[in-house]
Amino acid sequence: MKSNSLVSISDYGKEEILEILDLAAKFEANPNQKILDGKIVATLFFEPSTRTRLSFETAANRLGARIIGFSDAATSSSSKGETLNDTIKIVSNYADVIVMRHFIEGAARYASEITQTPIVNAGDGANQHPSQTLLDLYSIRKTQGRLDNLNIYMVGDLKYGRTVHSLIHAMYHFNPTFHFIAPDELKMPEEYKQFCRQHNIKYTESTELEGHFDDADILYMTRVQRERFQDLMEYERVKDVYCLRNSMLDNTKPNLRILHPLPRVNEIDMDVDSNEKAYYFQQAQNGLYVRQAILTKVLGLNL
Ligand code: CP
Repeated sequence: MKSNSLVSISDYGKEEILEILDLAAKFEANPNQKILDGKIVATLFFEPSTRTRLSFETAANRLGARIIGFSDAATSSSSKGETLNDTIKIVSNYADVIVMRHFIEGAARYASEITQTPIVNAGDGANQHPSQTLLDLYSIRKTQGRLDNLNIYMVGDLKYGRTVHSLIHAMYHFNPTFHFIAPDELKMPEEYKQFCRQHNIKYTESTELEGHFDDADILYMTRVQRERFQDLMEYERVKDVYCLRNSMLDNTKPNLRILHPLPRVNEIDMDVDSNEKAYYFQQAQNGLYVRQAILTKVLGLNL
């Protein structure tokens, strides 16, 4: 079934991405617009979340919609063995749009194929997180004044970090140069490097963080994703591999901005928070405006 879903960032072309960013800018200028009055937004979170769920719910509230759903699948009938198929079919009868996070890669795509109610993927395993990518793009454009020709360093858990996977696919439109910094155990998966090669996107790989990002426009830090490890001993080996400190930013470009999808554990020292190049809290705030734009678009509305 075809619907207006946002499951992967690749569902949107360049024009649609820019349309969302422009719409988000209008919501930032005026966040309280009751254009979703009478609509029901379902938020189904089979995995924990702070920013994604609360910013989608705030977005829906500010636009006049009502919210149903769950933040803990243990309180839903999936804990009694109900299938995702049945849950989606039932909730589709209640809601105009379903925002869902699930631990299984491909769960959102599967959901989008069994209902005509738009599905917004709020993260599926280590696969994709397209609403995060759109807010990352918004944050990059806002801080750099452009999206084209940027030097983007991605640091940390590049294997399981779904936000960096989605960001690679989105930046393909804007001629980036990527620098992947990760320990061998958490390297960028081959499929994403192959995507870069196929599309003539330049990239480098390294295991060293310190002193290696003096030409960076964006330093995109990520958390080591404990919940994705089968072997917790392996997590223990890599969990503290990088920590960004203020002193490491001394010789960086003035326009450098540090992004992080959050939550942070210990990969950015708190002494970085007061550095004007730290942008992760504003980035999370931008998520509200971008998610207002996403809800508006998938519901086929406009300002
Ligand atoms: N960035 C992000 O997805 O944060 P949450 O897990 O808190 O939603």
